[in-house]
Amino acid sequence: MPEDQNSVLSLMVNHHALLEMLFFIAKDDAISKSDRAKETISAFRWEYEKHMFAEENVIFNFLQWNYPDVYQLTLRLTNEHESIRHLLDKIESELPNVSENDLTVLSSLLSGHRKDEETNLYPMVDKELPENQRKRIIERINGVAPINNFVK
Ligand SMILES: [Fe+2]
Ligand SMILES: [Fe+2]
Repeated sequence: MPEDQNSVLSLMVNHHALLEMLFFIAKDDAISKSDRAKETISAFRWEYEKHMFAEENVIFNFLQWNYPDVYQLTLRLTNEHESIRHLLDKIESELPNVSENDLTVLSSLLSGHRKDEETNLYPMVDKELPENQRKRIIERINGVAPINNFVK
């Protein structure tokens, strides 16, 4: 794994850490029926939607085009994105009476998904793609979902 500025894994680990923090806050607010639950769930969703858009449109598409073998992996991850979106729809529509079970299911879906990407997807991207292509991917991800405001 290259620990340079063009490591896609390093960037996405930072993304995932930020998203996990935002989800932790939103989940806590939803369970305690805090007045700000709607706002903190929305803040998580906004960042997560941008993250999924970047993954699907910058990374998955690019990989499928160049490496047909990764199709099953990107298909699985895209299907999980859909499950995450549906659960978020349900949770948001049921506020303030959110099902704790839905939040628990979402929490484990998010952590399994994160582990799958950090173990199976991003190390491969860093290993397989030349530096100029990784650089372009990172520029595009930063264009869609910059995290400079959150992570220095
Ligand atoms: Fe993802
Ligand atoms: Fe991700």
